[in-house]
Amino acid sequence: MVSVKEVKEMFKPKLKPIIWDDNENKLTVLDQSVLPFQKVFVELRTPEDVADAIRLMKVRGAPAIGITAAYGMVLAVLRAENLNDVIKLMHDAKSVMDKARPTAVNLSWATSYMLNRAREYIEKGEAKDVKELITLLKKDANKIFDDELEAEIQMGLYGLEKLNPGDVVLTQCNAGGLATGTGLGTALAPVKLAHILGIDVSVIAPETRPWLQGSRLTVYELMEEGIPVTLITDTAVGLVMYKKMVNSAMVGADRILADGHVYNKIGTFKEAVIAHEMGIPFYVLAPVSTFDLKSSVDNVKIEERDPDEVRTVRGVPIAPENVKVFNPVFDVTPPKYITAIITEKGVIYPPFDKNVRKIIEK
Ligand code: MRU
Repeated sequence: MVSVKEVKEMFKPKLKPIIWDDNENKLTVLDQSVLPFQKVFVELRTPEDVADAIRLMKVRGAPAIGITAAYGMVLAVLRAENLNDVIKLMHDAKSVMDKARPTAVNLSWATSYMLNRAREYIEKGEAKDVKELITLLKKDANKIFDDELEAEIQMGLYGLEKLNPGDVVLTQCNAGGLATGTGLGTALAPVKLAHILGIDVSVIAPETRPWLQGSRLTVYELMEEGIPVTLITDTAVGLVMYKKMVNSAMVGADRILADGHVYNKIGTFKEAVIAHEMGIPFYVLAPVSTFDLKSSVDNVKIEERDPDEVRTVRGVPIAPENVKVFNPVFDVTPPKYITAIITEKGVIYPPFDKNVRKIIEK
């Protein structure tokens, strides 16, 4: 078995969706709302720019929005004239960015982490002025980004143990390198590592209506890497499992609760239930920053987006103009349908209400 370090040396990402320039303090993201038809990078200069980019899904995917928001907290401190300004500026930035999207917990995890770090540096006198504080906070944001890649490699290696040569993996949405900012990904990490190591594995990607993360992003990302992928409609998920065209399902997550309930892109629940019925292993891959051990299913908000995302397909009408629409963009999968949750700290098996804490809090 190869090590995380060895994979890190072998991994040459084709995509760099989040770029932070440490010298210029400049944050640039690849606009995922127009991929794969246009490859446009946009500069985000303020926490408000970051919040807009997250809301408009120019940057999306739970880990990617967390990393971008961490840099957004650095951008907030760039506005400070002295250390007395800092906490209020960071509080305001956190509140603007946390509101951009409600379901992925990585976002508020990252902003809280950065705010707490700033408080500590100021209280302990480790930052004597704003300049020193910015240097320390940039290191923290860079570390969140670096740690994410290491976590993904570790998850990828654990996930690889669940695959055999020739396997076909069903996924959902885009839980690849675009969604995490690293170029690798969570759910797609095992497949990408297999590819790097010369093991033949392929993917079936549902298109993921309404925003089409599957057809626009997963397919694009895998084709860029030279990994075989077949696009299906969301409604074909049942048939491909019935016909045993896939050996396992691997998906990402936006939030995982202590009892093993998994929030992920709409369509995940349906995929998990069918996998369970068909005896196909269903794996969730997510870093520790995606776990929310405090909330319960009664108080997690599932984001609902613009009805026009459903009435149209990328601007082209497909329904009567004023039809009533329900557009939840995430769903929640109960633990009984999940075979295992793969994290960088280890693989969690049922019973999740006991084992999630054992692994995450260790
Ligand atoms: O609405 P999106 O595109 O941000 O949703 C993304 C997902 O649901 C992903 O599966 C999840 O964030 C995990 S990404 C590694």
